[in-house]
Amino acid sequence: MHIPTFIEKKRDGHELTAEEIAEFIRGYTSGEVPDYQTAAWAMAVYFKGMTAAETGALTRAMMHSGNVLKHPAGSPPKVDKHSTGGIGDKVSLILAPLLACDELWVPMISGRGLGITGGTLDKLESIPGFRVGLSEEETHAQLARIGVAMIGQTANLCPADKKLYALRDVTATVPSIPLIVASIMSKKLAESLDRLVLDVKFGTGAFMQSRTDAETLAAALCATGRECGVKTEAILTPMSEPLGHTAGNALEVRESVETLQGRGPADLVKLTLDLAERVANVPRTQLAKWLNDGTAWRKWVQLVEAQGGRASDTERILEIHAAPLRHIFATPSAGTLTRMDAGLIGRACIALGAGRAKASDAIDFAVGISDIVKVGTPVEVGSPLLTIHARNKRGLAEARAFAEQAVEIAELHP
Ligand code: URA
Repeated sequence: MHIPTFIEKKRDGHELTAEEIAEFIRGYTSGEVPDYQTAAWAMAVYFKGMTAAETGALTRAMMHSGNVLKHPAGSPPKVDKHSTGGIGDKVSLILAPLLACDELWVPMISGRGLGITGGTLDKLESIPGFRVGLSEEETHAQLARIGVAMIGQTANLCPADKKLYALRDVTATVPSIPLIVASIMSKKLAESLDRLVLDVKFGTGAFMQSRTDAETLAAALCATGRECGVKTEAILTPMSEPLGHTAGNALEVRESVETLQGRGPADLVKLTLDLAERVANVPRTQLAKWLNDGTAWRKWVQLVEAQGGRASDTERILEIHAAPLRHIFATPSAGTLTRMDAGLIGRACIALGAGRAKASDAIDFAVGISDIVKVGTPVEVGSPLLTIHARNKRGLAEARAFAEQAVEIAELHP
């Protein structure tokens, strides 16, 4: 296939055939089609969109770019959740072991940081020794043993998404509904699931800024899931302020550990249960009990140790990854916090080094923002609003400038 003609066709707003899409994805996965042509094509899709038929063809081509997990007959129901991405969204780290307490299998394939949003794989890799690149054999054996595996796309599992995801991250082509649908659903369909719940986010810290766009994305995701025989539900959740009190890789692992030990912040616990109950066998009360009585924590210990890490390291992750500079950002006025803009907090994290500007960038696990105060909290003059964890003064200054724009206090009038 002549790739410039294929790119032109999309650039000029024409519909691509399933065969053309499949051939292009095959060529990209094998390395025949280079990144620069794929980046141009992704930008054309960003501007011109795709029909439902094109989106379905892209999803299937990406799913079949590698193998599809084959579970043994008679194995427990396979369930999973996926978020469209947010700031401080560490739900997967809590929900995967929680659901595995329920005699379910959770073969979770996740991604890395994307745009300003954090990624489950980057968070897990902040745990020394943790391997997200399990082989299919290892994944199957681990599911049979403990009911949960948290892995990334590999050369055998969704390799097209592995490459395209990294390319979109650094070419400003993330917030495109067909590209998001194909990326998420190719991974989820490769897991061979019975039930899937999707957390579709909207707001300044999400790829979909408006609720209406998030509804369109949710409908497209659910239609693709159902078409492929997976019971798929979506919930729409706001991403106008960060989830929980932290954003940044090691900081989020720490908050997840606290949540698995029954000490999680209310918004994070609520969202985890809202999602988990959609695919669980047991009721919400039982899931909440497992979070509080150590059952989910013990499953996390098994998971971390099965994938090469040490659970004790996850409890002392902030000693392992300690940023040299810490700066408390305090309010100059008294009143009520009315805004903690998730998008700007995400940008602050990227400025600190928690995400990538180009595909080869290394992530700084230690940096990020903690002690983020929730919207609606009354504050005094000098009350801390958040703490910045920085590697150097330049990162700190940039993050502080974003933090200044991110917060708004409604002042008290005597
Ligand atoms: N999560 C994914 O896996 N892919 C996207 O494109 C967005 C969120």
